[in-house]
Amino acid sequence: MNEGASRARHVAIIMDGNGRWAKRHHVPRAMGHRRGVEAVRKLVRSVESMGLECLTLYAFSSENWKRPDEEVSDLMNLMRKFIKSDLPEFMANDVRLKIIGDWQGLAPDIVEMLEDALEQTAKGRHTLAVALNYGSQQEIARAASKAAGKGEITVESITAELDTAALPPLDLLIRTSGEVRLSNFLLWQCAYAEMLFVDTLWPDFEPEHLQTALDDFATRERRYGGR
Ligand code: IPE
Ligand code: IPE
Ligand code: MG
Repeated sequence: MNEGASRARHVAIIMDGNGRWAKRHHVPRAMGHRRGVEAVRKLVRSVESMGLECLTLYAFSSENWKRPDEEVSDLMNLMRKFIKSDLPEFMANDVRLKIIGDWQGLAPDIVEMLEDALEQTAKGRHTLAVALNYGSQQEIARAASKAAGKGEITVESITAELDTAALPPLDLLIRTSGEVRLSNFLLWQCAYAEMLFVDTLWPDFEPEHLQTALDDFATRERRYGGR
């Protein structure tokens, strides 16, 4: 193993490709999203055994509101169902839920469900951070404005005001579906994160894929500008 290599503490995933999965299987787009939630469920169950401190999932971007109303409403309903059905599982798997993004801007019943879920999972040892109504540029702007209100704007003062302030530094960012872009996700946090772009469509992403990614991460040498 390289000297700079280590075990990942914090992995983030851009879960992309539900629509293309549905197209490939000749089923409605909504089915692709449903299968995407299944993939999330399986992954969350395995986070504890993989020893990850934090898994951050990009579930809905601040730009995803641009999609047709029907799709947005399907996604919101899936979110409602997921929180309701999986809350006991989170607790059983020692998972603490955390939400990043402008989630207070979601429908009031979802906000209420999330508040309840946050409270009930507060003692979990493994963090599942879900990015909802999340846009990284917006997050940085919010953080900078809070930092400015408290004094000098520095890298540290902005970092301390980001939604991710309480999370471990980001080690590895994965994007599924073959797209090679960040789509306004964790721009600041990616400064020295390792990146992995895989062709697998999100509904086909299995815990074994994450394990392979973690094994790959462990062989990488991180330099942070040094040598
Ligand atoms: C990701 O899948 C899910 C969300 C963005 C909510 P997409 O719906 O973006 O799937 P593609 O990219 O069209 O295949
Ligand atoms: C990013 O995927 C957002 C989520 C996975 C939630 P998109 O499918 O929205 O990104 P673009 O539009 O292809 O960049
Ligand atoms: Mg997409």
